[in-house]
Amino acid sequence: ALGGTVAEPKVTAATEPLLLNAIRGEDVERPPVWLMRQAGRYMKSYQIICEKYPSFRERSENVDLVVEISLQPWKVFKPDGVILFSDILTPLSGMNIPFDIVKGKGPVIPNPLCTAVDVEQVREFVPEDSVPYVGEALTILRKEVDNKAAVLGFVGAPFTLASYVVEGGSSKHFSKIKRLAFSQPKVLHALLQKFTTSMAKYIQYQADSGAQAVQIFDSWATELSPVDFEEFSLPYLKQIVDSVKQTHPDLPLILYASGSGGLLERLALTGVDVVSLDWTVDIAEGKRRLGQNVAVQGNVDPGVLFGSKEFITNRINDTVRKAGRGKHILNLGHGIVVGTPEENVAHFFEVAKGLRY
Ligand code: CP3
Repeated sequence: ALGGTVAEPKVTAATEPLLLNAIRGEDVERPPVWLMRQAGRYMKSYQIICEKYPSFRERSENVDLVVEISLQPWKVFKPDGVILFSDILTPLSGMNIPFDIVKGKGPVIPNPLCTAVDVEQVREFVPEDSVPYVGEALTILRKEVDNKAAVLGFVGAPFTLASYVVEGGSSKHFSKIKRLAFSQPKVLHALLQKFTTSMAKYIQYQADSGAQAVQIFDSWATELSPVDFEEFSLPYLKQIVDSVKQTHPDLPLILYASGSGGLLERLALTGVDVVSLDWTVDIAEGKRRLGQNVAVQGNVDPGVLFGSKEFITNRINDTVRKAGRGKHILNLGHGIVVGTPEENVAHFFEVAKGLRY
């Protein structure tokens, strides 16, 4: 280097986690593999923690528990990605929106937002003040995993977060958020903008704390028709990607939307590095539609894990063959379903890690 200083040796591909190399399109010997919701209720070890700590908020907001739960699947299955145990709703309390996750019911927002005044009272998120346990947990995970896998962070996308806080929880018809979108669009846009600024900051905070890639969940954006997706989701996703790329140009961003087959080309327009496909899309077609710059993740039906071992093996092979060599992260098409036999998950990882292109 100029000036006689010794340059820091550039980290070579071999010392970097397989998952990052695959996203960059480097020549890898097999697709990296991890599973959405890989930490959770299908694991006996998680259920034991739930008995001792029945509150989801406590399990997901205490550094030691977050680290322990995040590492449970890592210790047993050695996936190529270790995702932080948390929830997309975790930032809400720091934005002045109380929430809980109730057993058997799911997310509950006791005071759903519906007016301009409600939206004005939403505070912008300062991650280091509101969720310091997330940063601390990521830093510890990064040390524990030590580049043998990639540590993954995640956030909820603005539209999906808005759907929870306007509906008051999970929803079937999304009628409340659609009423807002289609009768008072300005109010919804103001809320989406607050989530956008906040989630961009949250991604940057996660990366600074140790996350090596971050997945954005826009699980319910596909409830929108394409024309509405273009108004209420796409511009905000683009804004998040643009602002994160300015500060963290090398941080891979993964985008997941459930049921996204009608929107793939639009998802690629966000500028993310990876699009995570659900199982209703043929992954070869998906890859073609997304174009060469985008890597694909997915997309085995989570229900396959209820099949025989032979069936699971066949579906892994089928998916990997269709995805083609490189730029593929093997995963499910959505989160693991409660009740999935742990031995089938073990089989999935064993087969996946034994693959060679
Ligand atoms: O993938 C992982 O292992 C990391 C953990 C993770 C959780 N939630 C833990 C969790 C992740 C990535 C999420 C993201 C999340 N949360 C999404 C996007 C992913 C998707 O499924 O599309 C969404 C929509 C939510 C909101 C949410 N939180 C739902 C719909 C539920 C399930 C409600 C239920 O009872 O089934 C939760 C609760 C939740 N988050 C659980 C877990 C393991 C289950 C509750 C528990 O373990 O006590």
